[in-house]
Amino acid sequence: MHFVSTALAVCAAISAATATSLYHRNRCDIRRGEDIFPRFSEYSDWAICKGIITKHRFPNLQAPNNCGGCVRYYRGIDMTGVVTEVHFYHPKVRNACDCAAKCLERPNNCTNWVWKHTFMPDVDGGKRSCTLYSSPNLPSDVNLAYNLDLSQGFLPLDPKNNPQNGSAAPLTFLDAANTIPDRFGVSGFMVQDQNNRQFC
Ligand SMILES: *[C@@H]1O[C@H](CO)[C@@H](O)[C@H](O)[C@H]1NC(C)=O
Ligand SMILES: *[C@@H]1O[C@H](CO)[C@@H](O)[C@H](O)[C@H]1NC(C)=O
Repeated sequence: MHFVSTALAVCAAISAATATSLYHRNRCDIRRGEDIFPRFSEYSDWAICKGIITKHRFPNLQAPNNCGGCVRYYRGIDMTGVVTEVHFYHPKVRNACDCAAKCLERPNNCTNWVWKHTFMPDVDGGKRSCTLYSSPNLPSDVNLAYNLDLSQGFLPLDPKNNPQNGSAAPLTFLDAANTIPDRFGVSGFMVQDQNNRQFC
């Protein structure tokens, strides 16, 4: 706990130092040619979980400094799929950063995670919970049926999710009737490449 608060303080100082220069560059950032990418040093502007998902904790994490963090996430949207469904509930996970970390700890069977209310009070105690998957949400016109006999390494797969039917990615919600969007729900995507580098 002490380590985390110290790391957060250092990260906050770095963010404050870059804020001024960003303000003065407040115009459309036109990039032509093949290098369309933002500067790596600006990673921190969008990163969540800085000081928690650090390069110290995940040495292969591709972030510009030890503050780390994840930039590949969807606030208020659940972009996860259905395959390799693994649940974590409070107190094993207490927040979205714990959830992202669970996925980073399982690079061989997790590529995406969601932190949201699942409305199962018996198990989630009324709190948001964490689910990990190896497949993302499919787009509306795509339905996939998984051949269980020819597949491996993906259990469990809930029978009602086979076929996996595509849809617009659902929002995260505060109520079981799915009428009140939850702006603190979040999902994220991550990958480990062939050189063992991790991206989130
Ligand atoms: C995913 O990988 C982790 C870490 O290697 C392992 O402990 C876990 O059993 C795996 N889960 C599944 C569903 O394969
Ligand atoms: C999913 O898609 C399949 C194949 O198109 C269809 O038969 C089935 O009714 C769909 N299920 C749901 C729950 O929409």
